[in-house]
Formats: sequence, structure tokens, C-alpha cells
Amino acid sequence: MVDIKYIGHSAFQITNGENAVLIDPFVQNNPKYDWKKEPLKDILLTHAHGDHLGQAIEIAKDLDIEITAVPELAAYCREQGAKAKSVSLGCWLQYSWGRAVFLPAFHSSALPDGRYGGCPASILLDISGARIYHAGDTCLSSEMKTVKELYAPQIAMLPIGGTYTMDVEHAAMAAKWLGVKTVIPMHYGTFPEIEADVQKFIQLVNLNNTAVGVLNPNEI
Ligand code: NI
Ligand code: MN
Repeated sequence: MVDIKYIGHSAFQITNGENAVLIDPFVQNNPKYDWKKEPLKDILLTHAHGDHLGQAIEIAKDLDIEITAVPELAAYCREQGAKAKSVSLGCWLQYSWGRAVFLPAFHSSALPDGRYGGCPASILLDISGARIYHAGDTCLSSEMKTVKELYAPQIAMLPIGGTYTMDVEHAAMAAKWLGVKTVIPMHYGTFPEIEADVQKFIQLVNLNNTAVGVLNPNEI
């Protein structure tokens, strides 16, 4: 049984039985989320920006679990005292809860100290046959057609807030290109710059017979 928990912004916990993975743990905004009580085994990071790195280092150190990220970001995490595994784009990685492959995203990535954080990523997870695509921060790109052809995801988490990423119109097109059955909007409403019209997003996505699962971080 795969359970998806939206913690807020781009942070998700995906749990498979006794094992859970945390993606982009900018969790400090959600007082209801207590990571000390969760069966976390791994943390995956799409890129180095603070709203995605979040509390990753603190959580990884406290629970003695490993972060997976591109080499520049993984090296930074190790410098900060956390366990971290370097990954390149395009290869399957095996975990206790399933497997994952890091894929392209079109964005930037700077470490907290200003150094280059490496190539930004999206992440495709395969958890007991459920294929879940977390787009990270990205613009719309035709890579999403390739993701459909290669991996056929059923569920996608897509940024809709504009300014730094896709807006609702481009995210609706991304959902179509990915061929997913369900879309979970993310990366909106956290800051004034990324307010989004969720109702418009639902309407646009529904035109393609795709469902929108709007998850409320206050209901975790
Ligand atoms: Ni970013
Ligand atoms: Mn971001």
C-alpha cells in the first residue's frame, strides 16, 4: 500500500509499508508534520535551493539516514555532516521502499553558500508498481514526452506557481504530455510570487480526462 503525504510546497513523504522516503523536505512550515515519528529511510533532493533542501541535513543527521542528490549537492550535504549519495541522471537506484531514477529539470541550482549546486533534477519513483513523477522546479519541456514513453507514470506532482516554474497552463500541458491519470499540484501559494489559480488548473487538466488531487498540508 503506497501512501502519498503532501507536507507543503514541494515536500512529499511516500510510504510503502514500513519504509518511507522524503522528497524536498521544506517541512519547517508545517507544524503538523513530525518527521521523528515517521519511518523515514531516505531523503531525495531535486536541487539545492533552500525551499527544497529544507531541513534535509538536520533530518538526515538526526535519523542517521542518507540523502540522495546530484554530486555537487551531495558533497555539500557531506560537508555539513550528513550521509549523502551522489547520483547522476538516468539510472535506476534501488531502495528499501522501491526504486527511483533522477531525470532532467530545467531550472537553476545554488547551494546555501552561493556555490553551484549541480544539475537540477526531477525524480521518477517506482514503488510496488506505482510510478510517481516529482517534477522538481522546472519549466514545461518536451522531456516530459520522453518520460511518458520511457516510464509511463500514473501520478505526477507538478509545480503550478509560475515565476520560478511552470504556471497552471503549462503544468496542465505537462500533465497531458506525461500521460498521467492523476496530478498533484505543488510549489504554489507558499510565497506571494507563486500564488496560483488552482480552480483553473483543475479545469484545464480535467479537459484531458485527468484527475487533480489537491492535497492540503493541514490534513496530513
Ligand atoms: Ni528552485
Ligand atoms: Mn523552488
